[in-house]
Amino acid sequence: MEISLPKNFSVFVLDDNSSNISILEHFFKDQTCNLWKSMSGIDALNKINKGLKPDIIIIRAAMDEISGFEVCKTLRKKYSSNILPVILIIEKENESHIISGFESGANDYLFMPFSKEELLVRVKTHLNVIKLNKKINQVNKQLLESEKKYRGIFEHAFEGIFQTDDKGFLLNANKSFWNITGFKPGSNKKFNIFGDTDSLFIIKTDRIQIFDTIRNNGKIFGFETKIRNENNKNIWISLSAISINGGDGSGTYYEGSIYDITVRKEKEQAERDRELAEKRTEQLKAEMHARQVKTQKELLDAFIKTIATAVEEKSAYTGGHVRRVVELSIMIANKINETDTGALKDVYFKEEEIEELKTAAWMHDIGKITTPEHVVDKSNKLQTVWDRIEKIHTRFQLIETLMEIDYFNKLEKLLIDNKDNNISDHAIQNKKDNLKKEFQIKKDELKEDFEFISKCNYSSEYMPEKEIDTLLKIASKKFKMNSKSYSYIEEDELMNLCVRKGTLTNYERSIIENHANMTIKILNQLPFPKHLAKVTEIAGAHHEKIDGSGYPNKLSGNQLSIQSRILAIADIFEALTAKDRPYRKPIKLSEALHILDIMKQNRHIDPDIFDLMVNEKIYLDYAKLELGTDQIDNN
Ligand SMILES: [Fe+2]
Ligand SMILES: [Fe+2]
Repeated sequence: MEISLPKNFSVFVLDDNSSNISILEHFFKDQTCNLWKSMSGIDALNKINKGLKPDIIIIRAAMDEISGFEVCKTLRKKYSSNILPVILIIEKENESHIISGFESGANDYLFMPFSKEELLVRVKTHLNVIKLNKKINQVNKQLLESEKKYRGIFEHAFEGIFQTDDKGFLLNANKSFWNITGFKPGSNKKFNIFGDTDSLFIIKTDRIQIFDTIRNNGKIFGFETKIRNENNKNIWISLSAISINGGDGSGTYYEGSIYDITVRKEKEQAERDRELAEKRTEQLKAEMHARQVKTQKELLDAFIKTIATAVEEKSAYTGGHVRRVVELSIMIANKINETDTGALKDVYFKEEEIEELKTAAWMHDIGKITTPEHVVDKSNKLQTVWDRIEKIHTRFQLIETLMEIDYFNKLEKLLIDNKDNNISDHAIQNKKDNLKKEFQIKKDELKEDFEFISKCNYSSEYMPEKEIDTLLKIASKKFKMNSKSYSYIEEDELMNLCVRKGTLTNYERSIIENHANMTIKILNQLPFPKHLAKVTEIAGAHHEKIDGSGYPNKLSGNQLSIQSRILAIADIFEALTAKDRPYRKPIKLSEALHILDIMKQNRHIDPDIFDLMVNEKIYLDYAKLELGTDQIDNN
């Protein structure tokens, strides 16, 4: 059997018998190896001491000068059996020699005589062991280096690295861990990272979440939470950890790392605070702006109401007109918004448009601020700043006095003229009676005339032609005073008294109608905000009619916005139903609706709005709020 040994090994044979050495030389002759030989133990040890380093030594135990056991013992002082194996050659089977051989440090033994194969197999085995030992040494060396390196990394790592048992009790931690947590290494050997009493974590729920996640999922990555270090300072950390199963029965343990992310977190917090502060500033700005707008709006509202009140104060009779027109206009607009049937179902007023209509309604009669009070309030035909019926009354009293004086003058003249004429007393009495009768007739006629004038003054009903004739007849009557002739009624008085319907002369009517013009003129001066841009147009058109016969601009049809149509109807309806007009009785609800219906037929008002008012009974809601119960006859 051919035994092949590793190449280029060196073998040292030591035997004081040259024949034995020759046999060994013969055994090794086919191998590629260095064979060194010596016949003296001292010589062999010297060579080895000087640096000769064989891979294996074969020594015969029973040498004379110095035994193989001794040589072996001395060798072992320098080289261990792992590095330099020794095979002892023992003469015959002798147990005590075997024991001595092993005690002196031999690795193996052979009894003489031995075969070449036996020797080579033993040598091969030991050379392999040497080779393996070398490898193990190498690996061990590498392992040591790795561990050293790992130790370095572990110790000098920037992150805090830790290891705990399955309960969370700290087993191991590096310098950074102690630096971050602020604890002294080993300060508390029972330190439990995830425990609930001496836990690192400030937020209890975080601690539970971290530990549960590691146990359930086997790992957690980059969990950010706050810890309180030994100096009671709160710091932020990012924690990652894994659960490791030892597998060799050592059980589960946890390894992880923590980073101090306080600087980043504080930066983020500062950024959040800055954003929050910015947001709050914006909010405050918006709030201030809203407050400003609200204040401006309140000021505008108050201003509008004050002006409207001032206008109404000019008249003792139309108080509350504007307020009621506002109320009714808004009632109509809201109902239009609610309705989903009929011609107005698609009309919807936004909040701002309602606001616009409301402002227009408050301002619609502002032009009356320029209308003279006596025209605004003219409740009888002779009224100017005062009621001129008093002047006529005084005049008629004067005429009566003049008539009386005339009568007495005539009576006196009668008595003087007939004094010497022997006229009978009876005849004189007759004449006196006639004079008195004549005076009485004139007086009665005068009284009748005044009563007629007075009646005309206080009537706003339609005046027939016959009554105009009567007035003209009275106006043609004259009286004399201080040789000067005067009319019973002055020209201007006659003109006022002859007003066919109502109390206003054409001129006065034009003054009244001018208020709509003035409303436009005044409102045009006001810089309304954008959402109230149409106030002037809506307010200025409240006397316009759908057919174009209204005033001041004779607008018609589409020229009139729906808001101005609402305001026009509200204005008429309020004026018709107002219960405080001194010159006429308050009219009933049914009559007012009837008049509006006629106006609708005549295309004076918007038919759709009127129909909505009737169908949705807006008129009744309004009446319940503003009219006397005796007026409400239609519900
Ligand atoms: Fe008006
Ligand atoms: Fe009005």
